[in-house]
Amino acid sequence: MKAKITATARYLPERVLTNFDLEKMVETTDEWIRTRTGIETRHLVGEGEATSDMGANIGIQLLEKSGKLPEEIDLILVATSTPDFPVVSTAALVQDKIGAKNAWGFDIVAACTGFVYAMETGAKMVESGRYKNVIVIGADTMSSIINYTDRNTCVIFGDGGGGVLLEPSEDDIGVIDSILCTDGSGSEYLTVPAGGSLHPASKDTVEKKMHYIYQDGKTVYKFAVKNMSEVSKQILDKNGFSGDDIKLFIPHQANRRIIDAAAKRCGLSDDKVLVNINKYGNTTAGTIPIALDEAVETNRLDHGDLLLLAAFGGGFTWGSMLIRWGNV
Ligand code: UT7
Repeated sequence: MKAKITATARYLPERVLTNFDLEKMVETTDEWIRTRTGIETRHLVGEGEATSDMGANIGIQLLEKSGKLPEEIDLILVATSTPDFPVVSTAALVQDKIGAKNAWGFDIVAACTGFVYAMETGAKMVESGRYKNVIVIGADTMSSIINYTDRNTCVIFGDGGGGVLLEPSEDDIGVIDSILCTDGSGSEYLTVPAGGSLHPASKDTVEKKMHYIYQDGKTVYKFAVKNMSEVSKQILDKNGFSGDDIKLFIPHQANRRIIDAAAKRCGLSDDKVLVNINKYGNTTAGTIPIALDEAVETNRLDHGDLLLLAAFGGGFTWGSMLIRWGNV
């Protein structure tokens, strides 16, 4: 048995922050941001809006699109690094907000690779035969951990999320394979240093701005180019495919230059690569499901097409997934 995607959805908050807005906030330029990252705008949550609100919106859309009742959902997975609370999973909040009273669920913390990790987890749950309707969401409220005076990070990230409904598939449609990797020795290069058990929140941690995301951009960039490119190529080789067999490549949207390097390594032409970083920036666990929903909406996938996902993020974490697409 395989797990297939039977509905997709995305949510981007209304508020938009442009490169020109950022020019007024930190020493940067629209030109620098566009040429170094490919980003033009990003969306930010409104007052009082949190990750579970985005997740619930996505969950409700998935129910509407699939015609499922909330009670039919049996598992909810939320990939996020920006939960509403340190204790109480965002999945639990989403479960309540969408009325999925028969579902259990939990969060998956794998930074920008979170959605691929969650997809693997959800797919295996479906393949086990025990779960029939699994919601997998990737969403992050990056603005909650961004220091808007730090030009190294504030120009890159945005808020948003997306998700899918996974159901059993008896034919060859669905998740084919995945390669998932972790290297915790990279943890110091992309992290929120305080607020966990090592450095609990204190006056000192707040004063030292340790609750904001810290990124050693150059180091992360180097690892991202190498690992996301390699893991994309590896999964093709392992399954006997080449770039020619792929209809669409949806990479994590962290930097246009990282995406281009990974596509080149797999021999994929530009028309096979979904890029929307210009509109949303890096929404961490949100980038891939947002892009997937846009791909579905713009009819970029037909029944039987081969879809390749790949991501790299803090941890370090990285991975790729091959999916045989079925009409949704
Ligand atoms: O999603 C999870 C994984 N994350 C990533 O994959 C992100 C990986 N890293 C990157 O995408 C890039 O490293 C960045 C976009 C973060 C930075 O681009 P870069 O080309 O690596 O720039 P850099 O860090 O080498 O900095 C070049 C210069 C520096 O000035 P000096 O030292 O050469 O005088 C920076 O201070 O650009 C400066 N700079 C900026 N200038 C204008 C850094 N940020 C900015 C900015 N505006 N926002």
